[in-house]
Amino acid sequence: MEELNPLLGDLEEVLLHEDEIKKRVKELGEQIACDYRGKELVVVGILKGALVFMADLVRHLSIPVIIDFVAISSYGAATKSSGAVRILKDLDAPIENKHVLIVEDIIDTGLTLSYLAENLRARKPLSVKICTLLDKPDRRKIDIRPDYNGFQIPDKFVVGYGLDYSEKYRNLPCVAVLKPHIYQNQGRKGSLPNGYDNGNK
Ligand code: IMP
Ligand code: MG
Repeated sequence: MEELNPLLGDLEEVLLHEDEIKKRVKELGEQIACDYRGKELVVVGILKGALVFMADLVRHLSIPVIIDFVAISSYGAATKSSGAVRILKDLDAPIENKHVLIVEDIIDTGLTLSYLAENLRARKPLSVKICTLLDKPDRRKIDIRPDYNGFQIPDKFVVGYGLDYSEKYRNLPCVAVLKPHIYQNQGRKGSLPNGYDNGNK
């Protein structure tokens, strides 16, 4: 396998294999399609992490949907705790009187999603719900829960299926933890974000 995909050699542990992700994403899509049948739904993906999940999920939505994207970035360490984020790319169209489903790769502290959900709610949609592939409930700083979630995972920094480390590994078909030397090789710039140690002190 490593000959086929050299990225696999960088992985310490695969938490979610391609097949189980596929199965769960199909279930989520069918549930969402069922819940929104007869309603006008705008599916809002958060770039770039939600890209892979979003692409797979919408193909299981057997209802008409409008697809839109936002790109956001946090203001940096000082404002990270406030959850203030900068919208780098806003929605293409208004969402007033529409049902909105935000699709995100992972809910960690919850700051990003709570800010975005508030921001979108101010635009007077009929509803705003959240669908995440992964949930790390141990790391939550704000009491926010996804309405739809693929998997709960432990408090570890993960990559793959859209999630990155230093913009890499998004194209892995599984969700995995990287070998510690990958971070160490990158020095200070490459250390793990937000106090993760992944159990490797
Ligand atoms: P939150 O505001 O702390 O919930 O942050 C969510 C964002 O942090 C996600 O959209 C990801 O971009 C990033 N993130 C959180 N945990 C991980 C992880 O384990 N791997 C990669 N990115 C992560
Ligand atoms: Mg993200």
